[in-house]
Amino acid sequence: MAKVAVFASGNGSNFEAIVKALEETPHRVVCLISDNEKAYALERARRLRIPYHVFPFHTPPERKDSEERILSLLRSYGIDFIALAGFMRLLSPLLIDAYPNRIVNIHPSLLPKYPGTHGIRDSYLSGDEELGITIHYVDYGLDTGPIITQRSFRRSGTETMEEIEDKIHALEHEVYPKVLIELLEAMDKNQ
Ligand code: GRF
Repeated sequence: MAKVAVFASGNGSNFEAIVKALEETPHRVVCLISDNEKAYALERARRLRIPYHVFPFHTPPERKDSEERILSLLRSYGIDFIALAGFMRLLSPLLIDAYPNRIVNIHPSLLPKYPGTHGIRDSYLSGDEELGITIHYVDYGLDTGPIITQRSFRRSGTETMEEIEDKIHALEHEVYPKVLIELLEAMDKNQ
């Protein structure tokens, strides 16, 4: 059984999809970490009865202190794996080096195209016919880590940005938990 921590800053729909999918497996989401006390993800965590912890990341000293506290919290929970799901902060080497190849992220574009905070808008405005999502390992950069998998779809050209956004989120909720479970199974086998 693997213990997973999810990091989220906002809505938390991927967090919820992961919690529910893992309930069908021996693996569990053990806690939610956030940098935003107003994140709707926290409301989901309350409903799902998952403990959550909010840490300030606004200034460099706050961020350093928060990452140190997060690391000791993750160790106290015995966390094996971290899934970023709309976490809007770059992690420093302190956390990344503590979990080598055990931190993954979901991004709403076909990386390396359109990294950063506006992946959906940038993809939509690009006019690209093929749009999609990327699941990747997290390294020190912004959406630069090795790609694990991507899923794409063809746009018809008539969709609004909201319709494209809905398609991307639906794809994320379907694919991210599945890929995560595969990674957790593989990790369990190698232990
Ligand atoms: C998703 O589109 C994800 O790809 C991106 O942030 C968004 C988070 O959505 N990294 P939610 O908070 O899981 O609903």
